[in-house]
Amino acid sequence: MSERKMITAALPYANGPVHIGHLAGVYVPADVYARFCRRTGQDVAFICGSDEHGIPITIRAKKEGVTPQDIVDKYHEIIKKSFADLGISFDEYSRTTAPKHYEVSQDFFKTLYEKGKFTEEVSEQYFDEQAGEFLADRYIVGTCPSCSNENAYGDQCEKCGSTLSPSELINPKSMLSGNVPVLKETKNWYLPLNEYEDFLNTWIIDGHKEDWKPNVYGQVKSWLNDGLKPRAMTRDLNWGVPVPLPDAEGKVLYVWFDAPIGYVSFTQEWAAKNGKNWKDYWQSDDSELIHFIGKDNIVFHCIIFPAMMKAHGDYKMPKNVPAFEFLNLENDKISTSRNWAVWAHEYVEDFPGQQDVLRYALLSSAPETKDNNFTWKDFQTKNNSELVGIFGNFINRVAVLIHKYYNGVVPAGPENAPELGEISKAAGEIRQYLEHFEFRNALSSMMNLARFGNQYLQTEEPWKTIKDQPEKAAHALFVSAQIAVGLAQICEPFLPFSAQKLQQMFNVKQMDWQTVELGEMLIPAGHQIHEATLLFSKIEDETIEKQIQKLENTKQSNKKTNPNANPMKEEITFDDFTKIDLRTATILTAEKVEKADKLLKFTVDTGVDVRTVVSGVAESFTPEECVGKQVMILLNLAPRKIRGIESQGMLLLTTKSDGKLSFVTPDDQVENGVEIG
Ligand code: 2FM
Ligand code: ZN
Repeated sequence: MSERKMITAALPYANGPVHIGHLAGVYVPADVYARFCRRTGQDVAFICGSDEHGIPITIRAKKEGVTPQDIVDKYHEIIKKSFADLGISFDEYSRTTAPKHYEVSQDFFKTLYEKGKFTEEVSEQYFDEQAGEFLADRYIVGTCPSCSNENAYGDQCEKCGSTLSPSELINPKSMLSGNVPVLKETKNWYLPLNEYEDFLNTWIIDGHKEDWKPNVYGQVKSWLNDGLKPRAMTRDLNWGVPVPLPDAEGKVLYVWFDAPIGYVSFTQEWAAKNGKNWKDYWQSDDSELIHFIGKDNIVFHCIIFPAMMKAHGDYKMPKNVPAFEFLNLENDKISTSRNWAVWAHEYVEDFPGQQDVLRYALLSSAPETKDNNFTWKDFQTKNNSELVGIFGNFINRVAVLIHKYYNGVVPAGPENAPELGEISKAAGEIRQYLEHFEFRNALSSMMNLARFGNQYLQTEEPWKTIKDQPEKAAHALFVSAQIAVGLAQICEPFLPFSAQKLQQMFNVKQMDWQTVELGEMLIPAGHQIHEATLLFSKIEDETIEKQIQKLENTKQSNKKTNPNANPMKEEITFDDFTKIDLRTATILTAEKVEKADKLLKFTVDTGVDVRTVVSGVAESFTPEECVGKQVMILLNLAPRKIRGIESQGMLLLTTKSDGKLSFVTPDDQVENGVEIG
C-alpha cells in the first residue's frame, strides 16, 4: 500500500438531486474506502464536486424556463448538503463553474494544444438557423428509423433503446425552434485516441488483468478491440468552459474534457486552503489514484481521461477504477425523469438521525459485480433484524450490564483472552476486502463480529454467573467490552454516526486500524464507560408503508399521458350523473359587467327558455366574439347572484395551453335544448 491516496468520486451532474443509485454505486463505497485509508494512516485527498456543464444541464434549464446557471446553483447546494448529511467525508466538494476550474481546464487544453496533441477537423454539424446555434445531438428530434417513434433524440431513441446519430433520424427537427436544421461546416479540436491504443493495451490489458474488476477490464478490452477513433474535445455550444484559442469563438470544451479535470482543479483548491502541494497527489510516485464511478463512466475514466493525462505528460495513471453496476428500485430501473428514485435529501428528511441505516442497507446491496435491487421491505429487515437485532442489541446489553453490576467500570479480565482474536480477525478481513474493493464482504465481517459478541454473551450468561461465579461474570463482561470497543472502531468507515456515538458511550478515542488489528486488549480494567444510548431503533411497518405508497403514487402519475392533468375526482354513480341537466344553447347577447374586468353577461337561448348567465370569460373573449356561438350549459344549477345579477346556469368552458378559456361546443350545429349525455 502506498503512503498517499488520491480518491475521486464521479462528479454528479447538477441537473437534479442525488438518489440511492448514485449513493450505492459511487459515493457510499468511495466514502468507506476514504475513511478506511485515513484510518490506516495514509495521506488521503477525497475529492468531488458538481459537474455543471453539458447537455443534461441545458436541457433541464430549458424545461424549467430558467438559465443553466440557475439550475446548477440550485442543485449544487442540494447535492452538497445531501452528501454532508449522509456523512460522505469529501475533503473538497467544489463545482466546475468555479473560476479555478476554468483556469485549470483551459491550461490543460492549452498544454495539449501547444504540444501538438490535437488534430483540427472540419465536420458538418446540424445548425438551427433561426436560433443561430449548432445543435447538440440531444437537441435534435425526429422519427426513429428502427421503431418509428416520432420523438427519438439525435443520440438515442428512448422507446426502443437504439443508439442513433442525428443523420439517421427521419424528419429531424430542432428542439430550439421546431425548424428543420441545416448542415453547416464547423472546425473542432480532436484527440486522436487511436494513437493511444498501444499505450492503453500495455497499461490496462497487459498490466491490470488481475487487479481490476472484470466488468471494467472487459469493457476496456472490448473498446480497444473495436479500435478507437479521434474524438472531438471541443463543441459548438454556449454553455461550458470557453476554448482558450483566438479562433474559437462560440466553442467550449467538451464536457467530458473539462469534468475529469475537475478532480485536479478541486484538488488544487483544497491544497491551497490546507497548505498542501496538489502535485504530491497527482504527479508523485508515492501516490495512488483511485476513481470511484458507475459503469456508464468506464470509457471516460479508463480511456479518454488517461489519454488526456498521457498527452499532457505530467500525470500518473489511475491505480484502479472500481466501477459499480446499477441499483434498481423495487425491481424497476431508477429514473430521474420518471421520478422513480429514493432521493437522498428526502430520505434525510423522512428518517432523521438514521443516515447510517441507509448507508448500511445500500452497502449490503451494493451493485458490486452485477445490478442489484433496493426494496423498502428489505431496508426495514436490515435495520430491524441486523442493526437493531444484532449490532445494537449486543452493544446495549454490554453497556447496560456493566452499569448494572459495576457502576459503569470495566471489570477485570484476562488481557490475552482468545476471544480478542475475533476483533483482530474482523479488522484484518475488512482490510483485505477493502483493499480489493469488496464492500459487501467487508460489511459482513463487521456484522459477524457483532454476531460473535451476541453468541458469546449468550453462552457466558453473566447475568446468571454474577451470583455464584462473579469472576466468570467479570471475565465475560471484560471480553464483551473489548468486542464492543472493537466494533466502535471497525464500524466507523461504514457507520460513521454510530461509531461516534459508540466511541462516546465507551469513552474511547478513535484508534488507527493497525492498533485494532493487533488483537490486544483495547481498554483496561477500571475504564469508566458512559451511559448507554440507543444506537438504532426499530422501523415500524407504517413508516415503510408510507414510502411504498409514495412510490405507488409516482407509478400512478407516470401513467398519465398529460403530466399536468389533475388526478381523477371521487367516483360517482350513474344516478349521480343523471341528475346533471346539460343542454345545447346559443348565446344571443353579450355585454361587459360594469366594474368587473373578468365578467361577461349573456342572454342565452337554451331551447327551454331564454335566460341570463354571468361568466368569467372577459379576459378570453370580447362580447362580439361570443354572440351567435353555440355552447353547452348546465341548466339545473341553482341560480346565484354575481355582482347583483342573477346567473341562471353555467356555460361549459375549458382552458387552452396558453391559459385562455375556450367554450365547449358541439362538433356540428344542433338545435338548442338538446340533452347531452
Ligand atoms: O455521468 C455523470 O454523472 C457525469 N457527470 C460524471 C462525470 S465524472 C468526471 F469525469 F468528472
Ligand atoms: Zn426507436
